[in-house]
Amino acid sequence: MERGTLFCVYLLFFRFLKLSPPSFFYICKRTFIRLSAGFIWCVSKKLSTMPKFHPLKIKEVRREAGECVSVAFEVPEALKPEYRFTQGQHLTLKAELDGEEVRRSYSICASPYDGVLRVAIKKLEGGRFSTFANEKLKAGDTLEVMTPMGRFFTELDPANEKHYVAFAAGSGITPILSIMKAVLQREPKSEFTLFYGNQKVDTIIFREEIEGLKNEYMGRLSVHHILSRELQGSELFSGRIDAGKCSTFCDKLIDPQEVDEFFLCGPEAMIHDIRDTLTGMGVDKKKIHFELFIAGLNGKAQKNKEQRKGESVAATVQITLDGNSFEFPLTSTQDTILEAAHKAGANLPFACKGGVCCTCRAKLMEGEVEMDVNYALEPDEVEAGYILTCQSHPKTDKVVVDFDS
Ligand SMILES: Cc1cc2nc3c(=O)[nH]c(=O)nc-3n(C[C@H](O)[C@H](O)[C@H](O)COP(=O)(O)OP(=O)(O)OC[C@H]3O[C@@H](n4cnc5c(N)ncnc54)[C@H](O)[C@@H]3O)c2cc1C
Ligand code: FES
Repeated sequence: MERGTLFCVYLLFFRFLKLSPPSFFYICKRTFIRLSAGFIWCVSKKLSTMPKFHPLKIKEVRREAGECVSVAFEVPEALKPEYRFTQGQHLTLKAELDGEEVRRSYSICASPYDGVLRVAIKKLEGGRFSTFANEKLKAGDTLEVMTPMGRFFTELDPANEKHYVAFAAGSGITPILSIMKAVLQREPKSEFTLFYGNQKVDTIIFREEIEGLKNEYMGRLSVHHILSRELQGSELFSGRIDAGKCSTFCDKLIDPQEVDEFFLCGPEAMIHDIRDTLTGMGVDKKKIHFELFIAGLNGKAQKNKEQRKGESVAATVQITLDGNSFEFPLTSTQDTILEAAHKAGANLPFACKGGVCCTCRAKLMEGEVEMDVNYALEPDEVEAGYILTCQSHPKTDKVVVDFDS
């Protein structure tokens, strides 16, 4: 085609669109800018949801009741989006103790609307990290802190008119306090009932803060303390929170059928007791959310390991993280996928390695795996193909795992 003819076609085309050629270029430019911005937003959102450590300075170490400290972090302006959290989530802290890297998870005890990032760490007899935190940490120190993780929450909506009930024991109050404050702040028509077990009055963590909330949200927050080593006026509130206590509370203080969500956090036995009691009364399992701080005490993982010894599968495992893929061989009777990947040189996210914290969660794209234990994934996540890589062993000769999905 001649150059003159081409020019005429060019002008006719814009006439047909009722546009001047410059405005056409303007539209193209705007569309390009919008598409690029959308792409960058999607990528940055994806990256920001991947767990990552950053060094954060400690703003305050506050002594709480019951041999416990709460630690507040300073979050630099540039990192604020990455440390935005949902009520009930936790942080994984990393420190070098006696020349060894130690990682532990701690639930955030603030609400997302408080404007602070604070965790509470209860000292355990002989506990490495909790003793270090209680005895050594001070304002001005810096710790490696992973971006918030966890799914111990339900979505909040100011239009909700729900009744939430929580059972907490000891340091199990930390995520419950975060959830409770967020519900009271964000859902003005919702109610919250807390059953909180401790040994004695002076070991009740956050007792004053909880009393303050009762006064601030009068009529919407009910708190029942249950003490195991101090006599109270009523037998109902003395002893440990177990199946019997749960049944009695359901008879006398709450109607479990009218409760919208249950949140449980405390020792494994307490969680199992309450969950079984509630489901025995006809409460839908989906309404019962729980967070375990420690697992493996019932030997389930060991039992599963013993069972696997007989049937060995030689597999190729492919891992994708941050858009990069790599492969390594793995036999089902050997390491977990997480351990084997680390030995192969990968830097995958993890914290507890005990199937409780969910930091190592990834999506199984191909093949099958067997998990030793799973205390962290909800049934719908398992159905959607998510696995805990710290607990997974291949069951098929090819396994493809994606940390980006
Ligand atoms: C998702 C998640 C959230 C958590 N949130 C909190 C929190 O908000 N506050 C808090 O204080 N802890 C919390 N934990 C527990 C915390 O991560 C550590 O396990 C705990 O502080 C013990 O670590 P340590 O290094 O002091 O003890 P370790 O040196 O690991 O263990 C010392 C001994 O104590 C036992 N032990 C470990 N943890 C417990 C426990 N919780 N109860 C009873 N015995 C135990 C071990 O079996 C071991 O024998 C959470 C854990 C998870 C997975
Ligand atoms: S690292 Fe905690 S569940 Fe796997």
